[in-house]
Amino acid sequence: MNSQDYVRPVNLGLDCEKLRNQVIDIISRSTLYDKRKIVFPAQEYEYTSTVLSKIPILSSHCTIITLPNGIKPHIDFGRNCALNVPIANCEKSRTIFHKASNEYRSAPGNSFIKLSNQIDLEEIFSFTLTEPVIFNNSITHSVVTYSNLERTILSWSFNLPYTYSQVCEILNDFINDLKLEKIQ
Ligand SMILES: [Fe+2]
Repeated sequence: MNSQDYVRPVNLGLDCEKLRNQVIDIISRSTLYDKRKIVFPAQEYEYTSTVLSKIPILSSHCTIITLPNGIKPHIDFGRNCALNVPIANCEKSRTIFHKASNEYRSAPGNSFIKLSNQIDLEEIFSFTLTEPVIFNNSITHSVVTYSNLERTILSWSFNLPYTYSQVCEILNDFINDLKLEKIQ
């Protein structure tokens, strides 16, 4: 496996500023007590609605994930692949992919609970999220943070049953069709 099997930077012509502003606005308006995981319907907001209409294999719902202290090794439940976009304080963090003999699948709707306590799983690849990427959620991964600031990302799943490699293939065609026009 090489780095492209875990994560791929992707130039979908996203207006990251617009997306970031939308996400920050949603967080500030959220009345949830626990804001570590905020799920919102893409169609109810202008910019995500436009993106969804251009890339219909994206899920109808987006998730904003805020990690105060990183996250232990796990495999995501209910998705194979996501579009991850840095929102705040991602520079001082590292996402690690691990070689694991057992799967540590997170529980539906409660992805921060049933995680592995083994944080010493062999590292196979790591990167820092600084631009939008297609992320392979089906391989054991963790996040470590190196600052006290909360790290926030937008994680927008691709619909099942698409696998990571299928999504990468579909998006390649999409990028060719789009000819890197910006999604306004
Ligand atoms: Fe995950």
